[in-house]
Amino acid sequence: MTEDPTIVVIGLGYVGLPLAVALAKRFRTIGFDIDTGRIAELRHGVDRTREVEPARLRETTLQLTDEAEDARGADLYIVTVPTPVDRTNQPDLGAITAASRIVATLIDPAKRPTVVFESTVYPGVTEEHCGAEIERAGGLTRGRDFRLGYSPERINPGDREHTVERITKVIAGDDDEVVEQLAAVYGAVTSGGVFRAASIKAAERAKVIENAQLGSLKLNKEQTS
Ligand SMILES: NC(=O)c1ccc[n+]([C@@H]2O[C@H](COP(=O)([O-])OP(=O)(O)OC[C@H]3O[C@@H](n4cnc5c(N)ncnc54)[C@H](O)[C@@H]3O)[C@@H](O)[C@H]2O)c1
Repeated sequence: MTEDPTIVVIGLGYVGLPLAVALAKRFRTIGFDIDTGRIAELRHGVDRTREVEPARLRETTLQLTDEAEDARGADLYIVTVPTPVDRTNQPDLGAITAASRIVATLIDPAKRPTVVFESTVYPGVTEEHCGAEIERAGGLTRGRDFRLGYSPERINPGDREHTVERITKVIAGDDDEVVEQLAAVYGAVTSGGVFRAASIKAAERAKVIENAQLGSLKLNKEQTS
């Protein structure tokens, strides 16, 4: 990756928008969302999630788009799309699969971009599902044409203290070069520093454990209140 990378954030919700606005302070950043209405609102300075103040939206240099074509040939793609569970508690990988397919069409193999997933997933999804989908949809080879990374998002909506600009970012990637790229990019936007996980699966596991602990903490609070 170059010293002056172009970054694309895919999915501008609770997680993606604050991240994209923070990245735009330091890097050329494009925010892409398939929801045309969301992009129109953001262009008018309205964030219905209330994570980003209207003034910050007006001032940001973040380039907002609902046209995937505007995100072609970037150095770093960060995917922050929803990964809900369905009625039977099975993970719904529809949006992350669709986003992987979109990224696959935008990759310039000469740039060997990094594709980082921030969406919450069960261990193995980044490599075995998303990586494989990018390879298949783009006719690309992981390692040669693009590389993968994972960095779990750890924010709580509405929490103004542990924001994306203060939290310690857990990062992992296909090789040391990717990990150091991510350390440079995320390290530039957070004062909390970065934690280099041993592998992509280790970073995915860290998020699952954190969510399970937060879940049991919330349950304990409810039971004692
Ligand atoms: N919200 C949280 O508290 C929180 C905290 C930590 C992690 N996470 C994880 O982060 C991920 C994102 O969650 P969120 O709360 O920001 O979701 P969200 O629903 O607020 O926003 C997701 C955005 O992605 C867009 N999108 C969907 N499919 C797309 C596609 N194919 N291409 C481009 N854009 C697409 C949607 O239009 C939407 O604007 C999830 O995996 C979630 O589990 C969320």
